[in-house]
Amino acid sequence: MPLDRYQYLSNVWRDGLFDNKVIFCTGGAGSICSAQVRALVHLGANACIVGRNVEKTENMAKDIATARKGAKVIGIGAVDVRKPELLQAAADRCAKELGSIDFVIAGAAGNFLAPMDQISPNAMKSVIDIDVLGSYNTVKATLPYLVESATRHKTDGHTPPANGTGGRIVFVSATLHYSGTPLQSHVSVAKAGVDAMAISVAIEQGPKGITSNIIAPGPIADTEGVARLSKSDHREKSYKGIPSGRYGTVKEIADATVYLFSDAGNYVNGETLVVDGGQWHTAGLA
Ligand code: HXC
Repeated sequence: MPLDRYQYLSNVWRDGLFDNKVIFCTGGAGSICSAQVRALVHLGANACIVGRNVEKTENMAKDIATARKGAKVIGIGAVDVRKPELLQAAADRCAKELGSIDFVIAGAAGNFLAPMDQISPNAMKSVIDIDVLGSYNTVKATLPYLVESATRHKTDGHTPPANGTGGRIVFVSATLHYSGTPLQSHVSVAKAGVDAMAISVAIEQGPKGITSNIIAPGPIADTEGVARLSKSDHREKSYKGIPSGRYGTVKEIADATVYLFSDAGNYVNGETLVVDGGQWHTAGLA
């Protein structure tokens, strides 16, 4: 049974906004990324999602495809973002089967709760590899396609693109590293690296028409991240201090993504869009 569109998308967006666009997304079977992709597909895009779990990724692709009649959504499982050759093969397949890669979401992440003295070198490396190297591998595999897409949308260099956009990357990061977060040193280090990479891509590849931005979700209901983190007493307490007074929804992350990939986000580059109900501003007060 297809989800009602307003469960994952606000009614400010118009149908067809992303007609003929292709989105490539890592971590696409996860709760946040699948909502981002679902919203883009609803608005016209076709998509390729990649993930480690074959069944989960393929089933999610089928489910997302129900968002719009005629949508093409490919799910490629057994893709560990730590393996550059697997990501390259997935990106090439996406471009071959769907015609291009216009938008990328680097969403794959790894997390668990542990104090630093109980994190093994391999555990620290695993998270940094998934988040930082995984994001790098994603950019590396898709950048030539993104540049092609950006070139198709480029104007004289003085006026904004008129007929939609292309060559856009969104990195899904976090706010944990804006202040110190107990039990999250590994993820904080990794997400700081992801943020730095996003900005480097923005300034280095911007002249080719690429935009590279960060979405930093706060506590989002019904996600693996919150399920993992809310086991901590500390996090539970800090959630009570969210200025908006509630957890966020995956739809609110999807809306931020639609904004950044739409014409409305044309001149936003190297920025972080924090979607957390104001939580990080309260660090230390909860
Ligand atoms: C301490 C742990 C651990 C834990 C695993 N490890 N869980 N150490 N506490 N709870 C250690 C293992 O013992 C091992 O070290 C090392 O981590 C690698 O674990 P493996 O299971 O062998 O590897 P792998 O399959 O690659 O797993 C990676 C992972 C895992 C990150 C550890 O949790 C994972 O695959 N997660 C993916 C899904 C996920 O985390 N999604 C949530 C994202 S939420 P040794 O030394 O024993 O070999 C998110 C939100 C952030 O990112 C912000 C929210 C606000």
